[in-house]
Amino acid sequence: MTGSDTFFDALSARRSIYAISATSPIPDSRITEIVEKTIKNTPSTYNVQSARAVVLLKDEHRKLWDYAEQFVKANLPDAVYQMLAPRIALHKGGYGSVLFFEDEADLTAIAAQHANVAPFINEWSDTSSGMHQLAVWTALTAEGLGASLQHYNFLPVFSDKVREEWNLPKDWKLKAQLVFGTPTGGPMEKTSKPLEDRVKVFGQ
Ligand SMILES: Cc1cc2nc3c(=O)[nH]c(=O)nc-3n(C[C@H](O)[C@H](O)[C@H](O)COP(=O)(O)O)c2cc1C
Repeated sequence: MTGSDTFFDALSARRSIYAISATSPIPDSRITEIVEKTIKNTPSTYNVQSARAVVLLKDEHRKLWDYAEQFVKANLPDAVYQMLAPRIALHKGGYGSVLFFEDEADLTAIAAQHANVAPFINEWSDTSSGMHQLAVWTALTAEGLGASLQHYNFLPVFSDKVREEWNLPKDWKLKAQLVFGTPTGGPMEKTSKPLEDRVKVFGQ
């Protein structure tokens, strides 16, 4: 194994795993360390460091998914609720969730400093948040956990409730929820589009 092989082994091992149990093969302190290392080492536009994360474990994690279930039921058509309820139950059955936020106060400040690119700051913030999400997802997988990425922040009441329940600053905008636990099943079948249609090299 040389160079990037270890990195790409870890990257390709990361999959969406929905069948998870409420256990963890690693201590809570190691999960926290993974999130902290990610927050410290992942890049952001102008080094603004607008990423924020919240780790919810055990009962706190289950509380999150109880809220998701309640809000989906109260705000979406019954057919959608019927589709999502079993998925939410799977998430609730996991060990923990990492919530990813971007701090809008930081982004507003950096946009004011760089007025020429201000319209792009939110896009770049999303890009950076995605980098954080991938890093935690890949690292948790490397530690023997299974995880899937969720976006119940499409319901504003859910984001509001998360901020209220865990007493978070109003400027923290919820971007994604990474649900994890010990895998009890494998990933779904996945096909890859031909790489020659997706990668072009010039000047080789
Ligand atoms: C930006 C982004 C958003 C996603 N949103 C969801 C989601 O809301 N719910 C979900 O179950 N999976 C979500 N996924 C997972 C993708 O469906 C999944 O990564 C893709 O099908 C490839 O499968 P794999 O993760 O097993 O490699 C998301 C993935 C990405 C990168």
